[in-house]
Order: sequence, then C-alpha cells, then structure tokens
Amino acid sequence: MGNFFSCIGGSETPDLVPEIHTPTSSVISSRNTFNKGYSDSSSSGFSGVSFGENFSCGDASPGGELLEKPNLRIFSFAEMKSATKNFKSETLLGEGGFGRVYKGWIDEKASSVSSKSGIKIAVAIKKLNSESVQGFEEWQSEVNFLGRLSHPNLVKLLGYCWEEQELLLVYEYLPKGSLENHLFRRNTNVEPLSWNRRMSIAVGVARGLAFLHSSDKQVIYRDFKASNILLDVNYDAKISDFGLAKLGPCGGNSHVTTRVMGTFGYAAPEYVATGHLYVNSDVYGFGVVLLEMLTGLRAVDMNRSKGQQNLVEWMKPSLANKRKLKEFMDPRLEGQYSLKAAYELAQLTLKCVRKDPKARPSMKEAVDVLQKAEAIKLNKGNRTPNNNHHHRSPYHSQHRGPRMSMEAYSLS
Ligand SMILES: Nc1ncnc2c1ncn2[C@@H]1O[C@H](COP(=O)(O)OP(=O)(O)OP(=O)(O)O)[C@@H](O)[C@H]1O
Ligand SMILES: [Mg+2]
Repeated sequence: MGNFFSCIGGSETPDLVPEIHTPTSSVISSRNTFNKGYSDSSSSGFSGVSFGENFSCGDASPGGELLEKPNLRIFSFAEMKSATKNFKSETLLGEGGFGRVYKGWIDEKASSVSSKSGIKIAVAIKKLNSESVQGFEEWQSEVNFLGRLSHPNLVKLLGYCWEEQELLLVYEYLPKGSLENHLFRRNTNVEPLSWNRRMSIAVGVARGLAFLHSSDKQVIYRDFKASNILLDVNYDAKISDFGLAKLGPCGGNSHVTTRVMGTFGYAAPEYVATGHLYVNSDVYGFGVVLLEMLTGLRAVDMNRSKGQQNLVEWMKPSLANKRKLKEFMDPRLEGQYSLKAAYELAQLTLKCVRKDPKARPSMKEAVDVLQKAEAIKLNKGNRTPNNNHHHRSPYHSQHRGPRMSMEAYSLS
C-alpha cells in the first residue's frame, strides 16, 4: 500500500476511496460558509506527503495516535436504513451543510456471529444531501482524515456507507450534543454550562487541535466553531467534522493556498482575505470559540446592533481591561470563576485573534495557558460579584446569524 495521503501531482490516491471526479470545478458550498473562488493547490484535498511517524504531541495532547490504516467498517445502505428506522424524523439529531444527522443503533461488532448477540450501540449517522455539490470531497476528506486520526478529543468515525448515490458517515454518538446547543439554544431544559465544564471543554479541544498541529505533516482543521465541538456523556469535548481539513504546508512553505471555505466570524482574516491558510489560522477560530464561552455570545449575530455583530471586533477593546471584561462575561457564570482566571483567558483570546498569524500562540502554548487558568481556584478573595449586564440583549433573542455573502463580511 502506498502513502495513504498521496503526493501533490502524484498518481497515488488513497486506496480506500477510489478517485471520483466531482461534477463541477466551481464548487459552491452549501454549508454556512463562503467560497471566494480561490483554487485549491491540490486537486483532491490530499495534498502533501504522508503524515510520517512522529505524530505524538507529548504532554500538551496525550493519547493521540495516527493509525497506519483507517480502521473503518463499511456499512450497506440497508443497514443504515434499519439503524435509523428508515431515517425516521424522530431519529433526526440535526442538520448541517453536508446533510442530516440521525441517531441510529448498530450491532456492536461487524461480524454476523456477534451481531446475533444482539448488542447494539448508539451511533450518529450523517447522510449526504443529494443537492450538496461539495459533498463528495467533504465525505472523502472525513474518511481519510478522521479514519486515521485517533485522539480522545476527536470524534471517532466508526465507518461509512457508499452505495450508488448514497454517501453516509457513521460516528460514535455523543449524547450531550454540540457546544453551540449548550451555549446558545435557550429553549431547552438543559442547565447552563458551568465555568468548570467550559474550562475542561476549552482544554480538551485545545489538546485536540494541538494534536492535529503537532504531526510531522500538520493537519489544518479549517472549520473550528462551536457547532463542531461535540460533548460526550461526561461533557468531554471532541472535535468533529473533518470535511474541510487540509494537510499543512510542506517544502518550507508557511501556508497552503486554498479556495476559501469556512464559517463567518470564526475564519481567520488572512485566510478570508487571501486564501492563504496557516496552521495558526485554526488558532484564530479557537480564540473565537473561547470568547463565545466567556461571554455566552455568538461569534456573529446580525440581530445585534451595528458595531456589535462581529464578536471579536466588538470585544477586542474590552478584553484587556478587567473592569470591562467583568461586564461582558456570561452572567450565567456569575459566582463560579475567579476574575484572575477569566482575565488570563481573555488575554489568551486576544493573542489567538491577532491579525498576524505568526504572532498567535501555538495550540500547545494555548493548552499550557488554559491548564494554568483551570488550576486557579475560586476563593472568597477573587470571587466575581454580580453585575448588571445592561450592554447585551436578552439571551432568548439570540440566534444564529443568517448566511452571508463575502461582500457582507467586512474585514477591517
Ligand atoms: N456524533 C454525533 N453525536 C451526536 N450528535 C451529533 C453528532 N454529529 C452531529 N450531531 C448533531 O447534528 C448536528 C448537525 O451536525 P453537522 O456537523 O452536520 O452540522 P453543523 O456543525 O451544525 O454545521 P456545518 O455543516 O457547518 O458543520 C450537530 O449540531 C449535532 O447536534
Ligand atoms: Mg458540523
């Protein structure tokens, strides 16, 4: 078997997924994303050389592994139908740009002998929407990246189904859903995420990103956002959705050039402006999510007044000032955190969202800062007093901003 990730211009393609040409070259993303018309530096998303051996990340991100081969089950479409009661609406978990996500039940083991034991496990099944033009590339990317990467803070891809027009992905089921749901959906009966949970989620996803970035052949995740962070039964965080992931720069280059894909409010400004994607473009997205966790406010909300719609631009001037920071903290966290810890995180956020990607910290450095902040214990002396939060609209009025065209996204 050749390198799983083929070389640029090489004849090798990942042997799991035969090469298929997508019907169009002018791909339009159907997710809440943008496409600025840059062409990819690779034809299939498998640019660069193999990952190489050195994929461990030391203390910043223990427990990671790069599998020699993807260890994935192949499911029939009939199995997918039976797992989800024929994609019954009551099994629907959510919907994104790729398609709908259903909860299903599959046999624990692949072999027919063990399936007779009747042990079933819960899974999340993502079914490609037939109108998604970008879908095949994203599906392929997910299978090839997530199928080989194993880390406690990455969602486990269990297998896939590819039958005629049907493309599906089967993941471990994460019962607490997405971070986005916990932070921003007001109509559920779920308790607000506590400070301690937010801290452990931040450390977890930072470790996941550090793992991706630390390999010989770095992986740039490219779509870091609250809806792509999923929570298991213990609220341990896992990064999902590798449809936009890219291998990092090679041959001494500092960046890769790609068609601009991502999500408004989370994507790094240099990438949106030029199509130049750096490993540290992910660090920007991480800073945005950290800010969402601190403030309880969305990265972009077109229902906020002008000047406040982009969270980073709105908050930047306040983050370096402890008094102002206190005003902007999520009121649901009151009394749970020390202002010292919040201030440390605000300073980390500011560094992560710096305009110059080279001036941003690495994810390994971010993990260190987060761990130190997590260790700051709350005591009487540093407890945060209650505040009046006059500056923000009531939470129930918050919802995801509408899709935006590139023109609507002004870079300052
Ligand atoms: N493994 C999983 N376990 C439990 N729920 C999941 C799982 N994967 C996805 N979901 C649910 O399905 C929803 C849709 O996920 P999906 O990744 O398709 O879309 P999205 O992240 O909202 O948008 P985008 O297409 O931009 O990534 C998630 O928000 C989550 O609630
Ligand atoms: Mg997603």
